[in-house]
Parts: sequence; C-alpha cells; structure tokens
Amino acid sequence: MNKLIAILIVLMFGAVLLSPFVVNVISGGKATPDLVLPTTGKCVKDTEYMRANHMDLLKKARVKAVRDGVRTKDSSLKNCQTCHVRRDEFCDKCHHFVGVKPECFECHYFPTGK
Ligand code: HEC
Ligand code: HEC
Ligand code: HEC
Repeated sequence: MNKLIAILIVLMFGAVLLSPFVVNVISGGKATPDLVLPTTGKCVKDTEYMRANHMDLLKKARVKAVRDGVRTKDSSLKNCQTCHVRRDEFCDKCHHFVGVKPECFECHYFPTGK
C-alpha cells in the first residue's frame, strides 16, 4: 500500500517536471504566438532579422528623423502599417507574449482595429 503511494507521488512529480516539454512539443516548439502575417509583400528586412532587431531599426530611424531631420521611409512606423495593418493582431500580440510594452503608441498612430 505504502509502495503504491510512493510510486504515485514519483509519477506525479515526473508529470509536473515534464509538462513544459510536453507543452513545447504540442505547440510545435514555437517561440512566438500565432501572428496574423501579411500574405503579400516582403518585409523591410528578412524575418529572422526583423524578429530580433526591428526595435533597433525603429529607434535608429527615430534618432535620424528627430535629431538630423532625415526621414527613412522604410523604417518609419507608418511604413510598417502598410503591411502589418492591425497592431493588436501583430505587434501587440507578440509584445504581450514576451511581456514588453513599447510606449511609442501613446504618441504614434498605429490602429488596433477596435
Ligand atoms: C511590404 C510589406 C511589409 C512592410 C512594409 C513591413 N513588413 Fe514586417 N513582415 C512582412 C511580412 C510578409 C512578414 C512575414 C514574413 C514571413 O512570412 O516570414 C513580416 C514579418 C515581420 C516580423 C517577424 C514576425 C515573426 O514571424 O516573427 C516583424 C517583427 C516585422 N515584420 C516587423 C515589421 C516592422 C517593425 C516594420 C516597419 C519598420 C515592418 N515589419 C514593415 C511584411 C512587411
Ligand atoms: C515576433 C515578436 C514581435 C513582433 C511581431 C513585434 N515585436 Fe516589437 N518587440 C519584440 C520583443 C521581444 C521586444 C523586446 C526586445 C528587448 O527588450 O530586447 C520588442 C521591442 C520592441 C520595441 C522597443 C521597445 C522599447 O521600449 O525598447 C519597439 C519600438 C517595437 N518592439 C515595435 C514593434 C512594432 C511597431 C511591431 C509591429 C509592426 C512589433 N514591434 C512587432 C517582439 C516583437
Ligand atoms: C512623446 C511622444 C513620442 C513617443 C512616446 C515616441 N515618439 Fe516617435 N516621434 C514623436 C515625434 C513628435 C516625432 C517627429 C514627428 C515628425 O516630425 O513628423 C517622432 C518621430 C519618430 C520617427 C520618425 C518618423 C518617420 O515617419 O520617419 C520614428 C521612426 C519614431 N518616432 C519611432 C518611435 C518609436 C519606435 C517609439 C517608441 C520606442 C517612439 N517613436 C516614441 C513622438 C514620440
């Protein structure tokens, strides 16, 4: 009887320890949530680069525009919207997922579709 309980406890711990791996397998090991991606056009840089570095691109463009008065059409927030039409289905979704909240949209217009 005691043996049975001990085995059950070991199995329960095992299940808890393994659960992140199980979730990972079920979700296909995705590091990002389901995003609504544009079906036409190409991003300003390749996907891998954008996933990791879009913030640098935007911040560089900001410095250029605000400090030097030089506009870079590609890297403006307005340009992103021509393809990533809704912020809530793309930018916000991923930002919630990773827990960042850029303060940009307090000033910059980027519709959420609501
Ligand atoms: C001409 C259309 C277009 C423009 C403009 C554009 N994108 Fe993209 N973007 C895409 C497409 C299409 C994809 C998906 C590519 C793929 O399927 O791998 C993408 C992918 C991305 C990704 C990666 C998403 C993922 O799956 O991880 C990020 C981040 C991103 N874009 C940010 C931006 C930002 C920021 C801007 C503005 C500076 C911008 N994009 C401008 C079309 C565009
Ligand atoms: C695939 C996931 C993903 C998508 C899609 C995405 N972001 Fe991000 N974004 C991130 C991550 C992760 C960070 C935080 C990086 C860090 O803290 O080093 C970030 C940070 C940022 C920052 C810097 C915030 C700060 O205060 O430093 C800006 C600006 C930004 N994102 C804009 C956008 C815009 C605009 C879009 C939509 C066009 C977008 N992002 C779409 C993942 C994403
Ligand atoms: C307090 C308000 C405010 C906040 C917050 C803010 N911006 Fe701006 N941003 C501005 C103003 C004002 C301009 C200049 C607009 C102009 O001259 O047309 C600007 C310009 C820009 C430009 C150049 C515009 C273009 O079309 O080329 C970029 C890119 C930019 N900001 C990105 C960002 C990003 C990324 C964030 C968040 C990390 C951010 N901004 C946060 C007010 C703000």
